[in-house]
Amino acid sequence: MKYVIKNGSVVFKDGVKKCDILVEDGKIAKIGENLPADCEVMDAEGLHVFPGLIDMHVHLREPGYEGKEDIESGSKAAVAGGFTQICCMPNTNPVCDNAVVTTYIKYRAEKVNLCKVHPIGSITKGENGEELAEIGKMAEAGAVAISDDGRSVMDSKIMRLAMEYANDFNLKCLAHCEDANLVDGGVVNEGLNSTITGLKGSLRAAEDIMIAREIALSESLDIPVHICHVSTYSGIELIRSAKARGVKVTAESCPHYFWLTDDVIRDFDTNTKVNPPIREERDRQAVEEALKDGTLDCIVTDHAPHSKKDKQVEYSLAAFGISGIETSFSLSYTKLVKDGELTLPELAERMSGAPARILNLEGGEIKEGGVADLTIADLAAKYVIDGEKFISKGKNTPFNGTEVYGKIAYTIVDGEVKYSAE
Ligand code: DOR
Ligand code: ZN
Repeated sequence: MKYVIKNGSVVFKDGVKKCDILVEDGKIAKIGENLPADCEVMDAEGLHVFPGLIDMHVHLREPGYEGKEDIESGSKAAVAGGFTQICCMPNTNPVCDNAVVTTYIKYRAEKVNLCKVHPIGSITKGENGEELAEIGKMAEAGAVAISDDGRSVMDSKIMRLAMEYANDFNLKCLAHCEDANLVDGGVVNEGLNSTITGLKGSLRAAEDIMIAREIALSESLDIPVHICHVSTYSGIELIRSAKARGVKVTAESCPHYFWLTDDVIRDFDTNTKVNPPIREERDRQAVEEALKDGTLDCIVTDHAPHSKKDKQVEYSLAAFGISGIETSFSLSYTKLVKDGELTLPELAERMSGAPARILNLEGGEIKEGGVADLTIADLAAKYVIDGEKFISKGKNTPFNGTEVYGKIAYTIVDGEVKYSAE
């Protein structure tokens, strides 16, 4: 298969340039101006061509919770959101703590054949925090990282062993940071709004203590670690100073942490309930700044689809999580680039380059000879977010009614168009 993408504004590492891209046999064969159009042409006039977006933190719910999402619905939602590669967390049922589940996920994803789906294995068996999972076997079966996401590994010795063991297989630990004892059933950020609403709060310290521990382990062992969904200004400070002294720590955050403050919990909308919780303006601003200066390496969605019955209950009983894979690009572009300080190459770095590097995935940049994973977007197109229109089974978004810019026009994986807006 051979075609040329004509006249798009191509987002390279060092700038944006209007040029053509020749795609051949799943690769970027050539990049240049006025390439001969002696094959099929895709007109990208007025559109921007990004390296295929990569979301290294999603929940696809299969096996076990297919009522919330499955690999097929999640993959369809992912390509509609512009993602060419996604990494799925192991908190399924059964938990992805062995090679059989890892293999199953890869097999299902290959059948669905939309985006690339990379399984993340659990750190401990059943995510119980007590006994290491079959890390080596999962690595062999294709797991790209390990994580007990959804909860912290509370036992520091187990976490140490996990980091050492995973490192032997060249896998990273992705650390969910919340001290379970300190969270103690908290469902929102502890502060003025938890007092006003009467909802049980969770301190920033619950997150920061675990971020500090992961940094301490990484520094002492000289083994890399990745911090999941950072939500506190103080956690960001810990990461910033660790990076400054050369600790091999990387970190991510999500659109809800740089768009929202916990004022949104005041009307008890359970779509705002997420782990870690949405915090205060000081935190929101810190996340935005850290995504600019690179303290936070990447943007992930933590796509956490839930069914209506999991969310249409009183706040304290509702499931934690936001369905985010279809809104991440437009939310990120609108807040950080259009209304913010990021450049388009920086946005591409946060949503593609950095995740590719952190997890040793292909792609992450547009270059000759590279894989033809591309996301083409209309940055001028605006729309209003409506969760009911999501392709994902999870309609749970706190962004209903939010006006955003940046519509995905095409999602191309290995040279094949897997999503087209028309
Ligand atoms: O809000 C969340 N939901 N945070 C997590 O860490 C897990 C996720 C889920 O699985 O629903
Ligand atoms: Zn998660």
